[in-house]
Amino acid sequence: MKKTQRMPTEDLDPFTERCRSRIEQALDQRLPTPVTLPAALHQAMRYAALSGGKYVRPLLVYATGQLFNVPAARLDAPACAVELIHAYSLVHDDLPAMDDDDLRRGKPTCHKAFDEATAILAGDALQSLAFQILATDPALDVPAFTRLEMIRILAEASGSQGMACGQAMDLAAEGQRLTLAELENMHLHKTGALIRASVRLGALASEHYTAQQLLQLDDYARHIGLAFQIRDDILDIEGETEVIGKPQGSDIARNKSTYPALLGIDQAKLLARDLHNQALVALEGFDDKAETLRSISQYIVQRAR
Ligand code: IPE
Ligand code: IPE
Ligand code: MG
Ligand code: MG
Ligand code: MG
Repeated sequence: MKKTQRMPTEDLDPFTERCRSRIEQALDQRLPTPVTLPAALHQAMRYAALSGGKYVRPLLVYATGQLFNVPAARLDAPACAVELIHAYSLVHDDLPAMDDDDLRRGKPTCHKAFDEATAILAGDALQSLAFQILATDPALDVPAFTRLEMIRILAEASGSQGMACGQAMDLAAEGQRLTLAELENMHLHKTGALIRASVRLGALASEHYTAQQLLQLDDYARHIGLAFQIRDDILDIEGETEVIGKPQGSDIARNKSTYPALLGIDQAKLLARDLHNQALVALEGFDDKAETLRSISQYIVQRAR
């Protein structure tokens, strides 16, 4: 498989590097080949899912699973499922009817590289594949009721009460001034829901978690989910197109409701930092095995892309 180009600004620890190679290989194996008919559709799906994303959501699945000593092979299916939903959400997010962006991960967006209809269908099919993998993947050696629970969690997180709800709020809020509570609610849905699901799926792959641990992990995930979108909003202003791989200033051009727009850039940064600290508090009581989750939280608020 072709190795994806990485941005030079990233400081990758060995766990992250291993997980990223692992998820790329796992996705490569589970996506239909580029010559499988209809070829353009499968090429577009692969383009969207294997084009050098940061793979933060799979990383969260692997890091949470690691906390409970879950073998990595059992985590591949949920890691692929969350990334496929994420990839689909980006393809649709970039469409002319939504954010109308031409650049993603330093390359033409899916609808520019292919065409709009193919991009819409690729998003649809990436979403279906995510659930197909959770339902059938042989490497996911968990009881049937756990598979069902994973499907439920991912469906809720991506559907009209989860990510799709947040995306609808985002579009409705263009040109509006939201209250802080409304903005938080939008971000928790459009980005936070899938990040929470990633952590939850990693834990569910184990049989050894306690209800208290699940609550703490969910608290952690809520905080980093919100911080992730705040950092994304900040990078839209402060980032450089060549580094973030998407058009800088896209939110301003579309009059989006963002944290920097409402609070100013300095307050938005302080809030992201505060959310990182609260995420660390949520993990209190977990031992050294939670170090990866702690460093992912830090990475989320410091990242340059
Ligand atoms: C971008 O997500 C969209 C948001 C939810 C903010 P990422 O920043 O995770 O995008 P990739 O997958 O790394 O390109
Ligand atoms: C998108 O948020 C969140 C999704 C659910 C895809 P943005 O619209 O801010 O994401 P980017 O900046 O285009 O990656
Ligand atoms: Mg958007
Ligand atoms: Mg967008
Ligand atoms: Mg953005």
